[in-house]
Amino acid sequence: MGKFSTFVWQFALFCALVINLVDRVHGDQDGNFGIGVGIADVTGPAADIGMMGYASLTQSATGIHTRLWSRAFVFESEGSRVVYVSADIGMVDQAIKTQVVAELQLRFGETYTSQNVLLSGTHTHSGPAGYIQYLLYGITSLGFNRDNFKTIVDGIVQSIERADANVQPGKILFNSGELLAANINRSPSSYLANPQAERDLYTHDVDKDMQLVRLESLDGSPLGSINWFPVHPTSMNNTNTLLSGDNKGYASLLFESKMNPNARPGKGSFVAAFGSSNLGDVSPNIEGPRCIDTGLPCDTETSTCCDSNGQNCYVQKCIAFGPGVNGNMEESTKIIGERQFTKADELYRDATEAISGPVQFQHQYVNMSLFEVEITNANGQKEVKKLCKAALGHSFAAGTTDGPGMFDFQQGNTNGSIFWDFIKDYLINATEELKECQSPKPVLLAVGEAFFPYEWVPSIVETQVLRVGNLYILGVPGELTTMAGRRLRKVVDELVSNKLPGEPAPRVVVAGLSNVYSHYIATFEEYQKQRYEAASTVYGPHTLDAYLQQFPTLVQSMIDGTNIGPGPLPPNLLDQQFTLVPEVQQDSTPFGMTFGDLVLEPEATYQGSDVVKAIFVGGHPKNNPLREGTFLTIERENEGSARWQLVRTDADWDTKFHWSRPALGSTQSRIEVSWETPTDIPEGFYRIKHFGYYKPSPEEPPRPYQGTSAVFQIVGPGSQPKSHPLWNPNHKTTKSIKSARDFWYALAH
Ligand SMILES: *[C@@H]1O[C@H](CO)[C@@H](O)[C@H](O)[C@H]1NC(C)=O
Ligand SMILES: *[C@@H]1O[C@H](CO)[C@@H](O)[C@H](O)[C@H]1NC(C)=O
Ligand SMILES: *[C@@H]1O[C@H](CO)[C@@H](O)[C@H](O)[C@H]1NC(C)=O
Ligand SMILES: *[C@@H]1O[C@H](CO)[C@@H](O)[C@H](O)[C@H]1NC(C)=O
Repeated sequence: MGKFSTFVWQFALFCALVINLVDRVHGDQDGNFGIGVGIADVTGPAADIGMMGYASLTQSATGIHTRLWSRAFVFESEGSRVVYVSADIGMVDQAIKTQVVAELQLRFGETYTSQNVLLSGTHTHSGPAGYIQYLLYGITSLGFNRDNFKTIVDGIVQSIERADANVQPGKILFNSGELLAANINRSPSSYLANPQAERDLYTHDVDKDMQLVRLESLDGSPLGSINWFPVHPTSMNNTNTLLSGDNKGYASLLFESKMNPNARPGKGSFVAAFGSSNLGDVSPNIEGPRCIDTGLPCDTETSTCCDSNGQNCYVQKCIAFGPGVNGNMEESTKIIGERQFTKADELYRDATEAISGPVQFQHQYVNMSLFEVEITNANGQKEVKKLCKAALGHSFAAGTTDGPGMFDFQQGNTNGSIFWDFIKDYLINATEELKECQSPKPVLLAVGEAFFPYEWVPSIVETQVLRVGNLYILGVPGELTTMAGRRLRKVVDELVSNKLPGEPAPRVVVAGLSNVYSHYIATFEEYQKQRYEAASTVYGPHTLDAYLQQFPTLVQSMIDGTNIGPGPLPPNLLDQQFTLVPEVQQDSTPFGMTFGDLVLEPEATYQGSDVVKAIFVGGHPKNNPLREGTFLTIERENEGSARWQLVRTDADWDTKFHWSRPALGSTQSRIEVSWETPTDIPEGFYRIKHFGYYKPSPEEPPRPYQGTSAVFQIVGPGSQPKSHPLWNPNHKTTKSIKSARDFWYALAH
């Protein structure tokens, strides 16, 4: 590094320090906090990429239903800062966390560190995959995707920068309340394994409480809101191929559009996060599982459906559906999203309990396979148990009733399977020590003993607590089941109540899927049943007990101000990532046409609730994800002027951006834009635009293009179309076919 760049560096650091000092004037003399909120786009490649969550090889993205966002919240008191982020991604990965912090430090110096920045994923199962550094999670997406990784990192960093830039003195109000009919337990037979006395403390087998904070400035103007309600964003099932924030993403859209009535999604100042919590065994498909062939209930223990003589039982036939009519997944997403929004809105309006106290944090890396936990055994004696190296059991391959596995596996099966035994024998053989440690789990994949070509799953995880006054946010690196989450909140609540008597009662929330992903965390009793969640509790039967020991340690040292040390640093595997998916080499168009041309124009006239559709000749969406931009706009002409006003983007719920190839191996892209117009859509003249990039040749970088549809008219009920110089009532909707290759375009209609 030259002298000049060293100088630039030092100068940047100096500036960062000055900015910090200036920032730190916000104190909490009177129950006030410095509060900053920010939102930014994390929508990665929208086509030709595996999706994260269901581990399905066939679920490859083909476009966008809703964009994915990162929502960031900065809290500060007396110079101490913490950041909570909820991002519309499957889960946060270690490499994402590390990279986000590294980039924040370039800009802000030591203000933001691994210790005080908590990143949580909403757990949508409809986002692009390939951004996780450990091998196992990249298998079904055929490797790593650097564009997606970069997009997620850039978006998260940008959301934090925006939150940082608008930190202002404000108040935090807490509220909580019951939300029924939005979640069910998908492993109820496991839940029943928990002690009767413990279950008697609760009415339901899932948590029905939504916990919420309302953030406002000192003069009471709304800044944002965060809530935690446990439910899987798996309303969209494994046949969906459009990127979507699922039920939580939709709930955020609804809340934000109510509070920012004049802004398009992701562009308003009020930010509302619907964060993930102890959702491990919690499904949004509230009508429950049934056999798709007979409509009868599935076998409860194994979640399978057998043929009429009780033979040949399959998990693939046992599927849970949501409240949508005929199990329609989009409608189910909408309903479960609406229910969360309605409850959040109500809790927000009625929130009065002021959060107060200092801002603190504690964090430690832990090597889970070395963790020693003190437990009380069946004879009432204390015993020290070591956790296990990571392993997945047979039911992991069975999947869940929200998304059954691809092979014939049954949940709760502690027997072997010829197919998988064969696979695993040629990959990794579990050692006897591992099998014994993980018992009664039948080990399918000894992922903790696999290091080829690099680690398959983490052994080092992050454990983290953020304290914002009497609100305690527990950053858990996985998916706690309902009862596991209750136990964790309880130990922290008891500890704080004991240590800080006379202070406002602690409000403890679980922030799930935070910082690094280590699968599930079931209770010891649930573990014995070995359904999916238990088979995916990777560090063995005492995984939860380790967290029940670790989190109080963090809280205790945080309150006492003692140093527990950082723990062992996690590996950085970014340099070793590979992919089997070829990059886009080139885009082409049908003969005689160019990028942005319309193959199908919208009709001349529509009414409210009609679906408007247009098809463009496009480039591959992978050429540029248009982060913070859009692949489509719907514009409306303002009365009496020729100015076009933006009314929709690809982030809106009622628009869809759909990519396809005309034929296997083709380099042409067909871009379909559709818009399901609201019933009360204002009359007027509208048009659709499409934006994208195309790659002229393998050697050249992608170039931008755009296309604009003919003007169409929306008429109200009973009204007659009006004439307009730009509107042609007889315009042709389909372009004439110029070559045999274009035939498919027309065929599709
Ligand atoms: C997914 O949902 C659709 C309805 O929207 C349904 O037809 C399909 O069977 C479901 N598939 C799975 C695997 O759940
Ligand atoms: C964590 O501990 C295990 C011992 O059980 C060891 O094999 C592994 O290398 C450690 N992980 C890291 C990343 O240091
Ligand atoms: C496991 O194998 C045993 C003996 O072969 C059999 O009796 C039992 O039903 C099997 N259990 C399951 C869940 O398949
Ligand atoms: C695993 O063990 C089996 C039986 O003991 C053996 O045949 C096989 O070669 C082993 N596989 C590996 C990858 O070590």
